[in-house]
Amino acid sequence: MGDTPRVTLRLPNGETLELDVETARLGQDVIAIAPLLQHDVFAYDPGFLATASCQSAITYIDGEAGVLLHRGYPIEELAEHCSYLSVSYLLMHGELPDQARLDTYVDDILQRTPVRDNLKRIVQSFPQDAHPMSILGAALYGMAGLYHSEIDIQDETTRYHIACQMIAKMPTLVALCHRHNLGQELIEPQPEFGYVENFLYMLSGERPDPKLAEAVDKLLILHADHEQNASTATVRVCASSDTNPFAALASGIGSLWGPAHGGANEAVLNMLEEIGSVDSIEEYIERAADSSDPFRLMGFGHRVYKNFDPRALIIRGRCEEMLAMTGQADNGLFQLALRLAEIARQNDYFIERNLYPNVDFYSGIIMSALNLPKTMFPLIFALGRCAGWLSHWNEMIVQGYRISRPRQLYVGQERRSVPAQVGQPKRI
Ligand code: SDX
Repeated sequence: MGDTPRVTLRLPNGETLELDVETARLGQDVIAIAPLLQHDVFAYDPGFLATASCQSAITYIDGEAGVLLHRGYPIEELAEHCSYLSVSYLLMHGELPDQARLDTYVDDILQRTPVRDNLKRIVQSFPQDAHPMSILGAALYGMAGLYHSEIDIQDETTRYHIACQMIAKMPTLVALCHRHNLGQELIEPQPEFGYVENFLYMLSGERPDPKLAEAVDKLLILHADHEQNASTATVRVCASSDTNPFAALASGIGSLWGPAHGGANEAVLNMLEEIGSVDSIEEYIERAADSSDPFRLMGFGHRVYKNFDPRALIIRGRCEEMLAMTGQADNGLFQLALRLAEIARQNDYFIERNLYPNVDFYSGIIMSALNLPKTMFPLIFALGRCAGWLSHWNEMIVQGYRISRPRQLYVGQERRSVPAQVGQPKRI
């Protein structure tokens, strides 16, 4: 084994410091900077553009080449040949399950699909017009309330059952949020239905076309995991305090909801409806390219991809099929999205910044084929992504972790004393 590669740093105080370089299996190596602490200086990287927060073997993205691997398998092959449940097993356990193992895993999940009345009452306690992501987050805290005392997260079998609980109940909770927004009762899952088949049935009360269930299953695979994205990083930070795993996943819901992240699929549809026609595209492209205008082209750009997001290409390819399947072949928004992407990619601003359509650009259109309101789109994203959140939660426990506690660059007041006369409230 050769010597550990190292780099030499000259510190602000003139000292030099040798730091170890950790070698990656794929992609960028990392400089282990913790020894900086002994030299009374921190690294500074707001937004973590060049900071690796952990080691992980789950997902690898080559942003320059537009490559996405889950446990080494290309996303294109997983979407083509696997089911969401088998991919969720792969993410958590590192290998695709053989038929016997998959059958057991699927049974372990399907039997857990129903939710207790406590969770139904949490959902039904919200105003009918509440955004369903707010309801879903509360329902996950409800699960933390139901499954807390008997949880030993250091026990592998307990972690397996927690993962099965979450993956099993997410479709039911997502469907329950939708039914509540409609002012309608929950539709109970059917024991003889498949995982996605039951999800679509609980949304509408109708048993879905198997081809539609298969298309949604692929959509969940495309949303399953994506390295240390904002919501997964949030789950890891939250879980690092040894908290209840369902509470850690609830923190992921909060982060994913944002329009800069998983809420972008909803924002893309709002943007396309605002643009309205091909004639208005240039105006919006110019606005997006104007740094003085806060408008951004939703569904475009990515922290890691500086090429096409492979998931966007797969979803774009399946949009026509899914829209045709649901009688929406002439969906004007899809045609508008195609034209918008084409024109944006010819614009110097987008070319110079390597801004391409990301997973959210077309996903909202394919989700609209399910006749769901736009507000439900981030919940579909969360349904897929909970497999990734769980796999990262499991990985950090297996690897061992310390509580995540970043430092800061302090730019506030120097020490000073409270003035003799300060305002006092009339009542304490
Ligand atoms: C997801 O991290 C993940 O893996 C996320 C995700 C996952 O699977 O978990 O892939 C899912 O969240 C996809 C992204 C969904 N969000 C959107 O589509 C919202 C629109 N996109 C942008 O807000 C932005 O591109 C981000 C948030 C996605 C990325 O932000 P960055 O990396 O901080 O990008 P940046 O702000 O550094 O952009 C670099 C430049 C800037 O211009 P300059 O300062 O260099 O002049 O590109 C510009 C940005 O203003 N830019 C955009 C733009 N995205 C970046 N300009 C117009 N429209 C955009 N969409």
